[in-house]
Amino acid sequence: MQTVTVNASKQYDVLIGSGVRSLLPGKILSLFGKPRVCFVSDDNVAALHLASLEDSLKQAGLDVSNFVFPHGEASKNPVVLFDLLEHLAQNRFSRKDVLVALGGGVTGDLTGLAAALYMRGMHLVQMPTSLLAMVDSSVGGKTAVDLKAGKNLAGVFNQPELVLCDTDYLSTLPPEDFADGMAEVIKYGVIADDALFDLVKSGNVTDQLEPIITRCVTIKRDVVEADEFDTGRRALLNFGHTLAHAIEAESNYAVSHGKAVAIGMCRIVEIAEKNRLCDAPCSAKIKEALTNNGLPTDTAFSNAALFDAVTKDKKCADGSLTLILPHRIGTCYAQSFPIADVRGLLS
Ligand code: GLY
Repeated sequence: MQTVTVNASKQYDVLIGSGVRSLLPGKILSLFGKPRVCFVSDDNVAALHLASLEDSLKQAGLDVSNFVFPHGEASKNPVVLFDLLEHLAQNRFSRKDVLVALGGGVTGDLTGLAAALYMRGMHLVQMPTSLLAMVDSSVGGKTAVDLKAGKNLAGVFNQPELVLCDTDYLSTLPPEDFADGMAEVIKYGVIADDALFDLVKSGNVTDQLEPIITRCVTIKRDVVEADEFDTGRRALLNFGHTLAHAIEAESNYAVSHGKAVAIGMCRIVEIAEKNRLCDAPCSAKIKEALTNNGLPTDTAFSNAALFDAVTKDKKCADGSLTLILPHRIGTCYAQSFPIADVRGLLS
């Protein structure tokens, strides 16, 4: 088991390894006294993992209940959020009690926001069950639900008080979802760690999950500690994401986040290379690593169509756009461009 400690507005541990779920009862008792615990999970994850976790908490003398919602991004909305808040109120939860987010990114984002809102803040534990949630969304405190106008438009920063990344959960993850998480892992390699990139580029990663997740969480921890509230350096985590958000929106969310990030990284690096914005060529290496990990490297959407979608995004509000570009594999930089110049780069 590995431990990564995050020192943000809250200090908390991220525990990573096989079987760390068994530590949940003891950690809850030591961190929070004897609170009531509400698991939040989607129907898919609940069917696989909820009963055994609930039993382990009951055996430790804890009062446990759950809120289960239909799986999928469509549930990450204000209606489900307020259903969860009403559930907590009707069942007389207090701010001393604990919400445990058991699931992927949708569950973590929704639960994190509910924990911030209910009685102005109750305790929060993140238990990610997808690779993407383990390496990205469960750490760093970004929470949100989607609005009709776009994804993640209503949210707050709310750091958890404990994150348990049990690598055993990844054995029940569909290969497509595992590949989505690998897109974010490859992203960390490109932006911050050429050794991590080399470790994962062949696609043979199943024996190395604990060190890979630990390295990703450590990179994210360092960025979050430097810029918790996303006013500067944290933008580096968005490498590939500007075009990814456009690809997701243009496909009506038929292209998953991880696959859109894979394509977004390829497109932006091709553009950077053509415009001599990289110090060393890296596009071919990134494409090879993505292909070996079961990820796409291109889309039928033209750069012009993606540019139109990008300029609709909330990130362009002041007429400029910050692009994250690699110097080479393992190091990157952020550069702001006027929107008109971005059109030129993409054409
Ligand atoms: N997922 C990007 C961030 O947490 O800032």
